[in-house]
Amino acid sequence: MDKLARVSEVSQTEVKSEINPPLGQGLVKVTETIAKTTASEPLETPVTVEVKESPKPEKAALEAKPQPPKLLTIEKLNFYFGDHKVLKDVDLPILENSITSLIGPSGCGKTTLLRCFNRMHDLYPNNHYEGKIVMDGRNILDKGEDLIWLRSRLGMVFQKPTPFPMSVYDNIAYGLKLKKITNKPLVRELVEKSLKQANLWEEVKDRLKESALGLSGGQQQRLSIARSLAVSPAVLLFDEATSALDPISSAKIEEMMVELKKEVTMVVVTHNMQQAARISDYTALMWLGSLVEYGATTDIFTRPKMKMTEQYVAGNFG
Ligand SMILES: Nc1ncnc2c1ncn2[C@@H]1O[C@H](COP(=O)(O)OP(=O)(O)O)[C@@H](O)[C@H]1O
Ligand SMILES: [Mg+2]
Repeated sequence: MDKLARVSEVSQTEVKSEINPPLGQGLVKVTETIAKTTASEPLETPVTVEVKESPKPEKAALEAKPQPPKLLTIEKLNFYFGDHKVLKDVDLPILENSITSLIGPSGCGKTTLLRCFNRMHDLYPNNHYEGKIVMDGRNILDKGEDLIWLRSRLGMVFQKPTPFPMSVYDNIAYGLKLKKITNKPLVRELVEKSLKQANLWEEVKDRLKESALGLSGGQQQRLSIARSLAVSPAVLLFDEATSALDPISSAKIEEMMVELKKEVTMVVVTHNMQQAARISDYTALMWLGSLVEYGATTDIFTRPKMKMTEQYVAGNFG
């Protein structure tokens, strides 16, 4: 097998080293977790990848650039569906006014991680978290956290658009009503503002009273985004939000996301490597519930530290 090895073998050798993400983020160790998981849970379909030496990171790339502050810090996060441990000791910062992509093969825990941020897992019994997600100095995984407040601070956009069966205008006014914002001029102002932010206003300004169900899929997705934006979230969480859309609709959303960075921090789950490379400032690769590597997107795509990252972004597996 010389230069060829199964992914599992790659992981067992490379995970022995510490991952020291570029730009001076905290040390992250995936180590044992991946090695153990690999031994007990082999990939369903054996995948063959070519193993090469990872390119050495260039010194310039590691020199600290000014970085935005951390808005969220994930510390030693474990997550269980019942007895099934799905996230393993994840450490990850989410930097303010930036886009962080979560990438990795299907089933590696991207959606599960995203749903920890706004405690979506609490909607189902027998799930539990260990570790911390720190925001504004407090652990948002604490039992006493106000989940309604939390979900308005961290909005989520799903793969499938979620328009309500009501008018375009009311779709957004409804979200505001839940936040007890009912003053008509203010509601009107916020509806317009969020539709503009979502890059949808020009297309719907003359049909605000029409049913949202008459909009195209791409428009419905931007409406869902506008509804989340209306309540001024700090973070928007996107779970494969463009994967069911045509390229033009998808491009409109990407364009909107880049523009929106000034106001909102975004975490984006995507299986589209080109999209991650195009829009995100930081990228995290996950595998079997562990974080493999995190860093500036340019570093992850052009000079990753881990062989697995190099193989994954090259499209050699997953
Ligand atoms: N509700 C659930 N109950 C039990 N296991 C689940 C549930 N949802 C997801 N999983 C498991 O958790 C792992 C991670 O899934 P997921 O986060 O959806 O991966 P990804 O988004 O990276 O494709 C998978 O092994 C999946 O089977
Ligand atoms: Mg998923």
